Amino acid sequence: MSEAEFVVVANRLPVDRDEDGGWRSSPGGLVAALEPVMRKTEGAWVGWPGKADLELEPFDFEGMRLVPIALSESDVELYYEGFANDTIWPLYHDVIAAPRYRRAWWEAYVDVNTRFARAAADAAGRGATVWVQDYQLQLVPQLLRDLRPDVTIGYFHHIPFPAYGLYSQLPWRRQVLEGLLGADVIGFQRVADASNFARAVRRQLHLETKASGIRVPQPDGSARIARAKAFPISIDAAVYVDLARRPDIQARARQIREELGNPKRVLLGVDRLDYTKGIRHRLKAFGELLEDGRVSVDDVTLVQVASPSRERVDSYIHLRDEIELTVGRINGDYDTMGHTAIRYLHQAYPREEMIALYLAADVMLVTALRDGMNLVAKEYVASRIDNRGVLVLSEFAGASDELGSALLINPHDIGGLKDAIVRAIGMPAAEQGRRMRAMRRRVREHDVEAWSREFLAALAAVRTAPGA
Ligand code: G6P
Repeated sequence: MSEAEFVVVANRLPVDRDEDGGWRSSPGGLVAALEPVMRKTEGAWVGWPGKADLELEPFDFEGMRLVPIALSESDVELYYEGFANDTIWPLYHDVIAAPRYRRAWWEAYVDVNTRFARAAADAAGRGATVWVQDYQLQLVPQLLRDLRPDVTIGYFHHIPFPAYGLYSQLPWRRQVLEGLLGADVIGFQRVADASNFARAVRRQLHLETKASGIRVPQPDGSARIARAKAFPISIDAAVYVDLARRPDIQARARQIREELGNPKRVLLGVDRLDYTKGIRHRLKAFGELLEDGRVSVDDVTLVQVASPSRERVDSYIHLRDEIELTVGRINGDYDTMGHTAIRYLHQAYPREEMIALYLAADVMLVTALRDGMNLVAKEYVASRIDNRGVLVLSEFAGASDELGSALLINPHDIGGLKDAIVRAIGMPAAEQGRRMRAMRRRVREHDVEAWSREFLAALAAVRTAPGA
């Protein structure tokens, strides 16, 4: 039992296993955001080490106490691949894929959430602050409160929270809301997510909501106020700027363009291979532009990085097949010996290579059908220290609330998407600069450090509120 003042609870630990069984920090934004707080407070991080049946004792890593939660092969199948990624993920992303409701998956979700809550309760010192992350752990806030009424609990929801008409499909809709309401502050990406949540709480639990406050009755007859509010997440912008300035990364960007045969314009898509990202819509639009002759393979190449994700879940297996069939067809129809229509990469790359790609890309295509935030959009903007490049951004990604100077599109409107791509390809440098500068200012001023600071300040305010 450790005595941390600050505990993060997330499905994954912030580290990856390297080849020789050691650990290296995984480059996620969350780690970067929380690292300063973790160091200051000797924080602990409770999470799954990412592989089934890995039983590990807590260990120290770069100033943090890491507390691994072992998941069996069956936990991975029922809790992670099942309930988290085949029930909640599709339901919360507007049922783009059909959610599956299985009672055995729910039972595993309750069981695994209980284990996470117990581990967090053991790691937290008296009066500690515990910050629970994301949809895999929606029951942890209340489970933890039951075990440790002395701790302050925050929860941040990284993905969308759906409209009530969809949310109400969930057979366990009340239990999930009650789980989340165990937190003192429940953070969402967009204002719309927070209002969807408040509406679900009113309709299902008949609780009173007022601005961001929700009156939650307590077992002793009193009530406390939980806050549900938007805190849009961001990236560590300064790191992207520094890397984008590095001469070797800039040289790599030039080399990438050469390797692609020096097309006049490089379009880029970077996504986890996920049905929420609108990759098919993007390919459809690009394929039609080639067919119509509005773009030529001699002038324009689309680079699509689709990193492997959740590879044993059926909807992901089908999506991969569909995308690879489409890419193969388009390339078969339009490639020449010297030029390819689509350079498709089913791989994950280190951050340096991604930044070189951002610098090499004239147009970044973010066409998500639904996305909590989409940090790739912010990464592209932060990396463009030359104030060039065009961001084509779906209005269904949370990032569109902040990046209003992007070319905003509705990815379902293929005609509109095609026009936006053509406009992006031909956009004069002055207009690129004007739009990019406005977006860069926003990302610089509202980076991930500001995000965590604002969230934790809201949490501290709950603790010091009168009657708390
Ligand atoms: C989204 C979720 C994260 C998740 C990530 C990668 O961004 O909000 O919670 O970690 O996808 O997915 P994975 O299933 O590999 O953890």
